[in-house]
Amino acid sequence: MKREDIIESVRSQMPERRWQHTLGVMETAIQLANRYGADPDKAELAAILHDVCKYWPVEEQARIIREHGLPAELLDYDKELWHAHAGAFVAKDRYGVADEEVLDAIRYHTSGRERMTLLEKVVCLADYIEPGRDFPNVNNIREIAEHSLEKALIAGFSGTIAFLLEKGKKIYPLTMQARNSLIDEVKLKEEHA
Ligand SMILES: [Fe+2]
Ligand SMILES: [Fe+2]
Repeated sequence: MKREDIIESVRSQMPERRWQHTLGVMETAIQLANRYGADPDKAELAAILHDVCKYWPVEEQARIIREHGLPAELLDYDKELWHAHAGAFVAKDRYGVADEEVLDAIRYHTSGRERMTLLEKVVCLADYIEPGRDFPNVNNIREIAEHSLEKALIAGFSGTIAFLLEKGKKIYPLTMQARNSLIDEVKLKEEHA
Protein backbone atom coordinates (compact mmCIF):
# COMPACT_ATOMS: atom_id res chain seq x y z
CA MET A 1 0.00 0.00 0.00
CA LYS A 2 1.20 3.55 -0.76
CA ARG A 3 2.49 5.73 2.09
CA GLU A 4 -0.37 8.25 1.65
CA ASP A 5 -3.02 5.51 1.67
CA ILE A 6 -1.57 3.96 4.81
CA ILE A 7 -1.56 7.39 6.46
CA GLU A 8 -5.21 8.06 5.58
CA SER A 9 -6.27 4.61 6.74
CA VAL A 10 -4.40 4.82 10.05
CA ARG A 11 -5.69 8.33 10.69
CA SER A 12 -9.29 7.16 10.25
CA GLN A 13 -8.86 4.58 13.03
CA MET A 14 -7.95 6.94 15.85
CA PRO A 15 -9.11 10.15 17.51
CA GLU A 16 -7.51 13.37 16.25
CA ARG A 17 -5.28 13.81 19.34
CA ARG A 18 -3.78 10.34 18.84
CA TRP A 19 -3.18 11.16 15.19
CA GLN A 20 -1.32 14.30 16.33
CA HIS A 21 0.77 12.02 18.56
CA THR A 22 1.48 9.77 15.57
CA LEU A 23 2.62 12.79 13.51
CA GLY A 24 4.93 13.73 16.39
CA VAL A 25 6.37 10.21 16.53
CA MET A 26 6.94 10.29 12.75
CA GLU A 27 8.82 13.59 12.95
CA THR A 28 10.91 12.55 15.97
CA ALA A 29 11.65 9.07 14.60
CA ILE A 30 13.02 10.61 11.38
CA GLN A 31 15.18 13.04 13.38
CA LEU A 32 16.53 10.27 15.61
CA ALA A 33 17.13 7.99 12.61
CA ASN A 34 19.18 10.72 10.94
CA ARG A 35 21.08 11.47 14.14
CA TYR A 36 21.95 7.84 14.93
CA GLY A 37 22.29 6.30 11.47
CA ALA A 38 19.04 4.33 11.14
CA ASP A 39 16.99 4.28 7.93
CA PRO A 40 14.63 7.31 8.12
CA ASP A 41 12.09 5.79 5.71
CA LYS A 42 11.79 2.63 7.79
CA ALA A 43 11.59 4.72 10.97
CA GLU A 44 8.78 6.78 9.46
CA LEU A 45 6.81 3.74 8.27
CA ALA A 46 7.06 2.08 11.70
CA ALA A 47 5.99 5.37 13.33
CA ILE A 48 2.96 5.76 11.03
CA LEU A 49 1.72 2.29 11.97
CA HIS A 50 2.94 1.95 15.56
CA ASP A 51 -0.40 2.80 17.21
CA VAL A 52 -2.70 1.57 14.43
CA CYS A 53 -4.59 -0.74 16.86
CA LYS A 54 -4.43 1.52 19.92
CA TYR A 55 -8.12 2.47 19.70
CA TRP A 56 -9.47 -0.86 18.58
CA PRO A 57 -11.65 -2.61 21.18
CA VAL A 58 -9.37 -4.56 23.53
CA GLU A 59 -11.37 -7.73 22.79
CA GLU A 60 -10.34 -7.39 19.14
CA GLN A 61 -6.68 -6.91 20.11
CA ALA A 62 -6.90 -9.97 22.37
CA ARG A 63 -8.50 -11.98 19.57
CA ILE A 64 -5.62 -11.19 17.22
CA ILE A 65 -3.13 -12.27 19.91
CA ARG A 66 -5.00 -15.54 20.53
CA GLU A 67 -5.82 -16.46 16.94
CA HIS A 68 -2.55 -15.61 15.29
CA GLY A 69 -0.10 -17.22 17.67
CA LEU A 70 1.22 -14.00 19.23
CA PRO A 71 2.74 -14.37 22.74
CA ALA A 72 -0.20 -15.55 24.87
CA GLU A 73 1.40 -14.33 28.13
CA LEU A 74 0.72 -10.77 26.92
CA LEU A 75 -2.88 -11.33 27.96
CA ASP A 76 -1.71 -11.67 31.60
CA TYR A 77 -0.09 -8.22 31.46
CA ASP A 78 -1.24 -4.65 31.00
CA LYS A 79 -3.58 -4.10 28.05
CA GLU A 80 -1.35 -1.20 27.00
CA LEU A 81 1.09 -3.79 25.68
CA TRP A 82 -1.36 -5.54 23.37
CA HIS A 83 -1.69 -2.91 20.63
CA ALA A 84 2.02 -3.11 19.80
CA HIS A 85 1.98 -6.83 18.99
CA ALA A 86 -1.44 -6.68 17.37
CA GLY A 87 -0.22 -3.63 15.41
CA ALA A 88 2.75 -5.51 13.97
CA PHE A 89 0.40 -8.27 12.85
CA VAL A 90 -1.98 -5.77 11.22
CA ALA A 91 0.89 -3.89 9.54
CA LYS A 92 1.85 -7.10 7.78
CA ASP A 93 -1.58 -8.59 7.22
CA ARG A 94 -3.56 -5.50 6.12
CA TYR A 95 -0.93 -3.03 4.98
CA GLY A 96 1.45 -5.49 3.36
CA VAL A 97 4.53 -4.42 5.33
CA ALA A 98 7.02 -7.24 4.77
CA ASP A 99 10.13 -5.70 6.31
CA GLU A 100 10.78 -7.59 9.56
CA GLU A 101 12.86 -4.71 10.93
CA VAL A 102 9.89 -2.37 10.59
CA LEU A 103 7.52 -4.98 12.03
CA ASP A 104 9.80 -5.53 15.05
CA ALA A 105 9.99 -1.78 15.64
CA ILE A 106 6.17 -1.71 15.82
CA ARG A 107 6.00 -4.92 17.88
CA TYR A 108 8.43 -3.78 20.60
CA HIS A 109 7.66 -0.05 20.69
CA THR A 110 5.92 -0.26 24.07
CA SER A 111 7.79 -2.97 25.95
CA GLY A 112 11.24 -2.93 24.38
CA ARG A 113 13.17 -6.19 24.58
CA GLU A 114 16.66 -7.53 25.15
CA ARG A 115 19.19 -6.40 22.50
CA MET A 116 16.92 -3.95 20.72
CA THR A 117 17.85 -3.11 17.14
CA LEU A 118 18.74 0.45 16.17
CA LEU A 119 15.35 0.91 14.50
CA GLU A 120 13.50 -0.47 17.56
CA LYS A 121 15.35 2.00 19.79
CA VAL A 122 14.57 4.92 17.48
CA VAL A 123 10.83 4.22 17.32
CA CYS A 124 10.50 3.39 21.03
CA LEU A 125 12.33 6.57 22.05
CA ALA A 126 10.39 8.71 19.55
CA ASP A 127 7.20 7.42 21.19
CA TYR A 128 8.48 8.63 24.60
CA ILE A 129 9.69 12.08 23.56
CA GLU A 130 7.65 13.31 20.56
CA PRO A 131 6.80 17.02 20.95
CA GLY A 132 3.26 16.38 22.25
CA ARG A 133 4.46 14.30 25.21
CA ASP A 134 4.22 15.95 28.58
CA PHE A 135 5.18 13.87 31.60
CA PRO A 136 7.59 14.54 34.46
CA ASN A 137 11.17 14.09 33.26
CA VAL A 138 10.34 14.21 29.53
CA ASN A 139 12.60 17.23 28.99
CA ASN A 140 15.43 15.42 30.72
CA ILE A 141 14.98 12.43 28.39
CA ARG A 142 14.88 14.80 25.36
CA GLU A 143 18.22 16.27 26.45
CA ILE A 144 19.81 12.85 26.92
CA ALA A 145 18.48 11.85 23.47
CA GLU A 146 20.72 14.56 21.95
CA HIS A 147 23.76 12.42 22.68
CA SER A 148 22.74 8.86 23.62
CA LEU A 149 19.89 6.76 22.30
CA GLU A 150 20.60 4.07 24.88
CA LYS A 151 20.84 6.37 27.91
CA ALA A 152 17.64 8.15 26.90
CA LEU A 153 15.81 4.82 26.64
CA ILE A 154 17.18 3.69 30.01
CA ALA A 155 15.73 6.88 31.50
CA GLY A 156 12.42 6.21 29.73
CA PHE A 157 12.13 2.60 30.86
CA SER A 158 13.24 3.53 34.40
CA GLY A 159 10.38 6.01 34.54
CA THR A 160 7.89 3.47 33.22
CA ILE A 161 9.05 0.79 35.67
CA ALA A 162 8.96 3.25 38.62
CA PHE A 163 5.43 4.29 37.60
CA LEU A 164 4.27 0.66 37.45
CA LEU A 165 5.86 -0.09 40.85
CA GLU A 166 4.16 2.96 42.32
CA LYS A 167 0.80 1.80 40.96
CA GLY A 168 1.34 -1.72 42.29
CA LYS A 169 1.17 -3.13 38.76
CA LYS A 170 3.00 -6.06 37.21
CA ILE A 171 6.06 -5.39 35.08
CA TYR A 172 6.37 -7.14 31.73
CA PRO A 173 9.67 -9.08 31.76
CA LEU A 174 10.78 -7.76 28.34
CA THR A 175 10.83 -4.22 29.74
CA MET A 176 13.18 -5.26 32.54
CA GLN A 177 15.29 -7.16 30.04
CA ALA A 178 15.38 -4.18 27.69
CA ARG A 179 16.63 -1.89 30.44
CA ASN A 180 19.23 -4.41 31.69
CA SER A 181 20.45 -4.98 28.16
CA LEU A 182 20.76 -1.24 27.44
CA ILE A 183 22.74 -0.74 30.66
CA ASP A 184 25.16 -3.47 29.50
CA GLU A 185 25.45 -1.79 26.08
CA VAL A 186 26.26 1.59 27.61
CA LYS A 187 28.86 0.00 29.90
CA LEU A 188 30.47 -1.81 26.98
CA LYS A 189 30.58 1.36 24.89
CA GLU A 190 32.16 3.29 27.76
CA GLU A 191 34.79 0.61 28.30
CA HIS A 192 35.73 0.80 24.63
CA ALA A 193 35.58 4.58 24.38
FE1 LIG B 1 1.80 2.63 21.40
FE1 LIG C 1 2.49 5.86 20.52
